[in-house]
Amino acid sequence: MPLINSATEFREYITDFIFSEYWSRSCGIDQELIISEDVAGNEARSTAVSSSAINPEIPVYTNEFWTSKQRAASRLHEISYRACFKPQLPGFFIKILTDEGDLVYDPFTGRGTTIIEAALLGRNVLSNDISPLSRIICEPRMNPPSVAEITERMNSVPYDYNLSPDIDLSMFYDERTASEIMSLKNYLDERKNSGDEDHTDRWIRMVATNRLTGHSPGFFSVYTLPPNQAVLPERQIKINDKRGQSPEYRDTRELVKKKSRSLLKDIGDKALVNLRSAGENAVFLNEDAAETSHIDDESISLTVTSPPFLDIVNYRDDNWLRCWFNSLDAQSIGKKITMARTASEWSSRMQDVFHELFRITKPGGWVAFEVGEVRKGKIRLDDYIVPVGINAGFECAGVLINEQNFTKTSNIWGVSNKKRGTNTNRIVVFRKS
Ligand SMILES: C[S@@+](CC[C@H](N)C(=O)[O-])C[C@H]1O[C@@H](n2cnc3c(N)ncnc32)[C@H](O)[C@@H]1O
Repeated sequence: MPLINSATEFREYITDFIFSEYWSRSCGIDQELIISEDVAGNEARSTAVSSSAINPEIPVYTNEFWTSKQRAASRLHEISYRACFKPQLPGFFIKILTDEGDLVYDPFTGRGTTIIEAALLGRNVLSNDISPLSRIICEPRMNPPSVAEITERMNSVPYDYNLSPDIDLSMFYDERTASEIMSLKNYLDERKNSGDEDHTDRWIRMVATNRLTGHSPGFFSVYTLPPNQAVLPERQIKINDKRGQSPEYRDTRELVKKKSRSLLKDIGDKALVNLRSAGENAVFLNEDAAETSHIDDESISLTVTSPPFLDIVNYRDDNWLRCWFNSLDAQSIGKKITMARTASEWSSRMQDVFHELFRITKPGGWVAFEVGEVRKGKIRLDDYIVPVGINAGFECAGVLINEQNFTKTSNIWGVSNKKRGTNTNRIVVFRKS
């Protein structure tokens, strides 16, 4: 049985969690709690718990839920992606709301933070994303090859220094690096098209995709934006002019091997068994999150997800170079990605997603839906998503606001000088009764 089995239990657990976090921070473990614990405790509870602006019956909990008590996440997650969340976020919900073997789903998978964390924790996974890039960067980590296999394969990829890319990438790469990337791209395409592609090829594809551009010599490109965001060529020309830089040679074989070693560094035996077992049963869909007819009714124990927030992130432009490397059409993918100009347009798209989530969620199952503040904090998407979930048939257990780097004591006691968190996640939690 999962640790928590009803909305009431969830609320009690979260309130106690906040309370115990507070005491473990303010009193040492061995220190005796002060006599006024009850009074102080009640005050702590009442200042860390408020009500939703749109429905006073929905509790809103503010705390640092997944940083202080939890150990560092696995390095296997370290494939960058726009607007991804930290592994501790899905980890928090997976641990309390599911058992080993349960099916965990993400309809907007991205780099796969939810499904990789669920797999590491021994759950089964179902993944969906409208962009085929998502599967390219997730699936290989569910069945990781050994460092020796990766090294051997990389050494055998034929590099042809007469090749050059079919588009102008000279603002990103020097000539030799560009030939290596083109050779790697051709090799991977040939393996795929001939049906010979294996898990080592898929791993190399994932790592090379991740290394295409970035802001350090660990990437194939000259200095540019961080790797989750490829700038367009015109902008890179300006960056090069401004910094007085031009691309230098990068050893792509060595960079793929180095990143692979780093990703695989801390996977223990148990995690590897869990990953492989989840990988064997894993399903990767490439559908609109509102139209996932391949998923059985009442099959999902927990969904942990984060949709596009209105039109804040342009997934098409950010991923244009990754799409080129993987022979994908960025324009046609871009047209299918949910982009909403207004909160009401966004709510209506999310309503369709929630009807689908209600259909596929088991009775007693859960949805943890991460949203944010947009338009400089003027629009809080949790206010919109609470009625959307309820309208689909779910019960709303509460809203969790995870605030990091805030002045904890001030915040928890409601003191006037409290600082706003610098990294705020808002997760609306629903249950299907
Ligand atoms: C905020 S990101 C998810 C990030 C993810 N939580 C992670 O940690 O990597 C949103 C994802 O939704 C995908 N997406 C956008 N519109 C979609 C749709 N209509 N159906 C399914 N996926 C969609 C995008 O391709 C993107 O990968």
